[in-house]
Amino acid sequence: MNYDKIDKKARKILQENDRGLYTVPTKGLYPYQWNWDSAFAAWGFSSFNVRRAWAELETLFTGQWDNGMVPHIVFHKQAIGYFPGPDVWNLERVPHTSGITQPPIAATMARAVYEADKHYGRVHMELLFGRLVSWHRWFMKNRIEDGMVVITHPWESGRDNAIDWDDALANVDGSNVGEYHRRDTDHVDPSMRPKKEDYDKYLALVQFSRDAGYDEKVIKSDGPFRVGDVGMTFLFLRACRDLLHIAVELDHEVDEIEGWIKILKKGVERHWNEDRGHYDSVDVRTGQFTNSLSCASFLCWYAGIKDDRMLTHYDRIMQTVDFGIPSNDPDDPHFNHLRYWRGPVWGMFNSLIGIGLAETGHTVHAERLRKRTQKLIAEHGFYEYFSPLDGAPAGGTHFTWTAAIWLTWASPHAKGRF
Ligand code: GLC
Repeated sequence: MNYDKIDKKARKILQENDRGLYTVPTKGLYPYQWNWDSAFAAWGFSSFNVRRAWAELETLFTGQWDNGMVPHIVFHKQAIGYFPGPDVWNLERVPHTSGITQPPIAATMARAVYEADKHYGRVHMELLFGRLVSWHRWFMKNRIEDGMVVITHPWESGRDNAIDWDDALANVDGSNVGEYHRRDTDHVDPSMRPKKEDYDKYLALVQFSRDAGYDEKVIKSDGPFRVGDVGMTFLFLRACRDLLHIAVELDHEVDEIEGWIKILKKGVERHWNEDRGHYDSVDVRTGQFTNSLSCASFLCWYAGIKDDRMLTHYDRIMQTVDFGIPSNDPDDPHFNHLRYWRGPVWGMFNSLIGIGLAETGHTVHAERLRKRTQKLIAEHGFYEYFSPLDGAPAGGTHFTWTAAIWLTWASPHAKGRF
């Protein structure tokens, strides 16, 4: 296998998806700046162009709201042919944005860029630090219940149609959303995307928040969908630890961030589903576990939780499939190997799980996961996601985050590897 050639291809994908100061996840399907995709892009750029990596994060924060929230999409240019675009979100601000957030991994990726650029990076890090703190503060003020991070729309999780949300979505009425034309299925086979009935509910939730004037108090008291997302809690805990590290480096106050970490660690305990023996999401409206074992449950190690209880599930799944940890347990009756977050394997998730394993001392597990992801991408290409059964590529092609994790983690030449 010619890995130099594959490295080159990965860099080319980032460059092709680069719109100057931000990177699209892939052209066509996702033509704007997505929040956590951009953080991955910054990480990827840090392996060969740190200046461009900083620009990526700085551009993302031009979309930050006055209350600190960083939206899941920033529409830097007119959105023709994308649904739901700025007219649906209906926000009076420039650049236009969506009205919900996404996994807050920017602090983690900013730290990675800073590590790659210790000297000149300091000024960039100083500029970003306050913005990161205010985003984290927004989460702590509005989205923490029992120490868990609560999402108010499945899209906030980054795992749009995961099985985790099925029961909670039963409370959402999608029958009155009106006529609309979704665009994703113009680009990708509909059998690999969320179903129409799910999409109706996603839109109903957008309309609810919009009509509530995006008032977090109203969303909390009347919102039909509120779930403590195990993935968000782990990623946010990790990001707070990285923010703390940055604060120490920059000589900033640390008490507030330390307080957040304490609260989130309590939340981690609330996510433990004793009956099923794994970390799980919680419908905070009913107090019920969602009873689904997804790739997000395995982010415990990435969050710095030294907990071996998840290893039994981990080993079972790695024996069942060959390409890493799929978005849902392959033994679950709802598992679907090609439908987006209901079964496919995502390279970027493998990278986070693998790094977490390595950091908590599970180096053999970590190395196996890295090798399998390496083989998957080297043999099948830089796709959005893959079937965990046979590695068949699916979704969008020339995908930014798949290229980014190749350069930073999966490639044999990746520096970030352990
Ligand atoms: C989908 C994914 C989400 C991602 C976006 C752009 O909505 O579920 O995680 O950020 O596409 O790639």
